[in-house]
Amino acid sequence: MKHLLSIEKLARTDIETILADAAVMKRERGHSSRRPLAGQIWALVFAKSSTRTRVSFEVGLRELGADVLFLSAREIQLGRGEPIKDTARVLGRMVGGAVIRTFAQAEVEEFAHYAGIPIINALTDDEHPCQILADMFTITERAGGMDGKVVTFVGDGACNVAASWIWAAAKLGFELRIAAPRGYQPAPEMIARAAGRIVVTEDVQAAARGADVLYTDVWVSMGKEDEQERRLSDLAGYQVNAGLVQLAGPGALVMHCLPAYRGKEIDEATLEANADTIFTQAENRLHVQKAILDWMVR
Ligand code: CP
Ligand code: NVA
Repeated sequence: MKHLLSIEKLARTDIETILADAAVMKRERGHSSRRPLAGQIWALVFAKSSTRTRVSFEVGLRELGADVLFLSAREIQLGRGEPIKDTARVLGRMVGGAVIRTFAQAEVEEFAHYAGIPIINALTDDEHPCQILADMFTITERAGGMDGKVVTFVGDGACNVAASWIWAAAKLGFELRIAAPRGYQPAPEMIARAAGRIVVTEDVQAAARGADVLYTDVWVSMGKEDEQERRLSDLAGYQVNAGLVQLAGPGALVMHCLPAYRGKEIDEATLEANADTIFTQAENRLHVQKAILDWMVR
């Protein structure tokens, strides 16, 4: 049985299969009668807010023939302290698969261990694998592939999205630069373990120079709201704006996983100038997740 719990544990060949299948999903959307999940009911168990991930999974699952239950973790007994391993064993007897958004990575792993059904990580504090698969699909679509690319992540380099980029760079061999102040950089052990072409620096301008992709994410990830004030001040010099875009390579893609906080990690003008890329990036969540689902049940 397949799970998608992290990019760290995903094989390069599986990444390549998913990215190739996503192109077919996108091309054939609305024209295909294939329903690989026909007759299944999947659960979405979300302990954090979501717009893109929730909607793209709900739509994608239905388009592939499945029915969907959205379960806010707060509103099921999980929110009152029922153990994950019990919730997992109950859902495992009733639904065909589950998509889980939560805090600790250990929670999705425990769920996968006990549920006996395919489990997808829809974001934890450690990783956001579906996002980075969709982002690599977008880069492939717009710039011909990941080979030889330089991706510069600007901002909170210790967040889930940055971590998934680290594992993706390690798996696929492209260059990843992470521009983040001290205290917001990925753990050196993770970089050592990834053993990819990864540079971590405080120098945002050096990191942007000649990059093919300038990528950012929120400065205050879900669960870090208590640190908001300090984060906004510590990360103030790490905004994606016109000055930074000028340093990047010609035609560089500006990407944001969204939601965007204008005037913080990106300015209004830069976001709007790159809205076509950024909202295609959001749309591609749907096509890539359909490819993930199809791959999982194969
Ligand atoms: N990018 C992303 O995962 O968005 P949501 O939090 O809205 O799902
Ligand atoms: N790093 C962000 C991603 C949101 C999609 C968070 O965890 O809130």
